[in-house]
Amino acid sequence: MSMIDLPFVDAFIRMADDAFYKGWHERNGGNLSYRLTDDERAAAEVFWNAEAGPAVPLEAPASVLAGDVFLVTGSGKYMRNVILAPEESLALVEITADGAGYYLRWGLSAGGRPTSELPTHLLNHAVKKAAGKRVIYHAHPGNVIALTYILPLTHKAFTRALWESATECPVVFPEGIGVVPWMVPGGKDIAAATSAEMKHRNIVVWAHHGLFCAGADFDEAFGLMDTVEKAAEICVKVLSMGGARQTITEQNFSDLAKSFGVTLAEL
Ligand code: 13P
Ligand code: ZN
Repeated sequence: MSMIDLPFVDAFIRMADDAFYKGWHERNGGNLSYRLTDDERAAAEVFWNAEAGPAVPLEAPASVLAGDVFLVTGSGKYMRNVILAPEESLALVEITADGAGYYLRWGLSAGGRPTSELPTHLLNHAVKKAAGKRVIYHAHPGNVIALTYILPLTHKAFTRALWESATECPVVFPEGIGVVPWMVPGGKDIAAATSAEMKHRNIVVWAHHGLFCAGADFDEAFGLMDTVEKAAEICVKVLSMGGARQTITEQNFSDLAKSFGVTLAEL
């Protein structure tokens, strides 16, 4: 028995592998983080380095995450290699008691650092913790990115275009989708902009870069990414065929909302 035999590590690895085969993770593109439950933490402590230290300072501290433990992908690591070399590709980090740093408890066995998007992952976890979300997921899905060159970079335009592209969309993400304009990735500014959007919804597009999703578990986060990218693919096809000649109407949306008991964001 070792760290990689624990069920949450296994589930993390499975998601990384599935996501690679979806074509969303060229090279080291994208990253994934998971906040452990108390029971998972207790199981992980058996296998971790209790002497890890000194703490590494966080660029974007979040006191609400003090003492929490996260499994995250490493910076520059390839999603396709997670299944082959989990201990090299992943990092198990414990946030310090003041929320200002972290201890590397396991992983990165060949050296390195947690993902460069750790500030965005942690600020998103901070705003999503109360809602019970444990997974923050970033990928580079091609059709979503393509739409950021065509659609106005607004919550309204992206939400409407994707809702109209597949009937399941308003039901799966009734809060719609947030949009962050082009920004330099990997720092606290883009982390602040993304987490501000995440306060109101579970999906945020980064213009000309990719998508972030928040889920209660791996299935929910993966499912959101999959649903949004599928809708974006349909939207790209429709635009490529000359644009929609008919679509899902306002009346259809309100009938859906009523039938599925969801409240749709006002657009
Ligand atoms: P990392 O390799 O540091 O996770 O960065 C990949 C990425 O997608 C940056 O946005
Ligand atoms: Zn990225």
